[in-house]
Amino acid sequence: MSAGKVSIDGRVVDGGEARVSVFDRGFLYGDSVFEVFRTYGGVPFAQREHLERLERSADRLMIPMPVSLETLSSEVGATLDAAGEGEWYVRVVITRGTGPLTYDPSTATEPLRVIIAAPVSVPPADQYERGIAVTLLHASRPTDDERASGAKASNYLANLLAVYEAKQKGAQEALVLGRQGQILEGASSNLFIVKDGKVRTPEAQPGILIGITRATVLTAAGAEGIEVEEAEVTPESLYGADEAFITSSIREVMPVVRADGRTIGSGAPGPVTKRLHRGYLRAVAEATGVGV
Ligand code: PDD
Repeated sequence: MSAGKVSIDGRVVDGGEARVSVFDRGFLYGDSVFEVFRTYGGVPFAQREHLERLERSADRLMIPMPVSLETLSSEVGATLDAAGEGEWYVRVVITRGTGPLTYDPSTATEPLRVIIAAPVSVPPADQYERGIAVTLLHASRPTDDERASGAKASNYLANLLAVYEAKQKGAQEALVLGRQGQILEGASSNLFIVKDGKVRTPEAQPGILIGITRATVLTAAGAEGIEVEEAEVTPESLYGADEAFITSSIREVMPVVRADGRTIGSGAPGPVTKRLHRGYLRAVAEATGVGV
């Protein structure tokens, strides 16, 4: 499999040759922020929104942006040009850079920027046709803490351990519970439920990444005249929903048909979920000029 192309501080290299310092704080402590998006027909979708969120994440964690968003955009373009034909997973990472081996963030002054363009691997078609299973669990992530909430910080240890637990239980995603037992979001997704034709997703709060796919789906729902609300979603409301789905830049709109072993609705992807996935893909086609 092609390792794609990587831009490091603006210099593009083959993925297999890409190196950063072992003294980089992103490597040592996860002291970095990141964004993930993908191309359709080679054209990145919602790149501007992702880079603006990256800038907010960096600001939240006091990491100075090393270049303007315009320069970063052109560096993404150069990396994709070098990658050539194909559909690409794009990961943009800004680390706080290298410095002495201390935890004090003020000791690193030169942030590092890395742009990875790797072949995108999308979920298998049968997951969209049959839906996936989720498991609910508690997990405290760095972004649950006020100091980092709202930032898409690279430290995903709690998220990846949650995914490991989900897989052990035969599920494909973990849904993280908040302190009051409410559902926050997935390990790398946002959650939606559908009840009596109305769509609900957890409202913005510490511990939730306000996804760009979530925002696009909310807009699509409005365009379709589907009532939406951003409000608390409890495990019981998920179990008792007519439909459920998760959203992320790579999974788009993924139907959820089982939660903690309980069947949701008919046990098959629901009509509103499918309608919103079509609406999402229309938004992608409009933005990228690429019919999907
Ligand atoms: N993550 N919540 C979390 C914790 C996420 O990591 C992601 C996406 C989302 C959905 O965000 P968006 O719709 O902007 O992709 C929500 C990316 C896909 C990742 O970590 O790979």
